[in-house]
Order: sequence, then structure tokens, then C-alpha cells
Amino acid sequence: MDEDHARLEQAIAQAADAPEADLPALHEAIARELAAHFAREEDLMRAHDFPGLHCHLAQHKLLLEEARRPVAGGGGALRRRITVYIAQLVESHVLTLDSITAAFIRGEFAPANFDNLRLPIESGAR
Ligand SMILES: [Fe+2]
Repeated sequence: MDEDHARLEQAIAQAADAPEADLPALHEAIARELAAHFAREEDLMRAHDFPGLHCHLAQHKLLLEEARRPVAGGGGALRRRITVYIAQLVESHVLTLDSITAAFIRGEFAPANFDNLRLPIESGAR
């Protein structure tokens, strides 16, 4: 997962000085890579019975919708969208839910630590 994150950060950083003509393809590539990364991460969470799975999946879905959202206003707007907005969304996700997930997989947290990350529909099932 760390290698995935590094690849994503590198692609996002490329948008800072890529020619404007290359930005739409780079935007699509970042969204594709993000979707592939999320799928791998979700498989890993399922394999480890991660208790915050549904919360994490919901955040992936929102993040992917934001990453795929078309951008009006030309190359400058798309460059800002990638290098500021998408970059911050990805970074904050990695620093919060991804780091908690990794800690759980390393055995540093117990399932009870994730009670606040459960969706209401899950609480009814417990
Ligand atoms: Fe994640």
C-alpha cells in the first residue's frame, strides 16, 4: 500500500508542471490508479476482517467521485484541482483512515477501537 501511495503522490506531483494539454489524461490516469489502489486496499481490509471496513469503503467512494468529477475552467483549474484538492483529499485519507487501518493490520488496535467508525446500519447488526 505504501508503494501505491507513493505512485499516486508522484502522479499528482507531475500535474504541477505538466503541459496543460497533458492534464486531462493525467487526471484520468490518477482517477484510474486511485480506483485500482482502493480495490487492492479493500481486498486487504476484507482479508483482515477490518472492523472499520464500511466507513473506509464509504470514504473511498466519496473520494473517487471527487477525483473523477469533471473540471470546468481550463487547464489552470484542472491543475489546481489535481495538485490542491485531490492531493489534499488523498493525503488526509492516508493520514487518517489508511493509517488506522494499517495499525489494525499490524495488530496495534483492537476491534473496539473502531466503534466510532461504524455506520448506523452496522450498529443494528451487532
Ligand atoms: Fe483507504
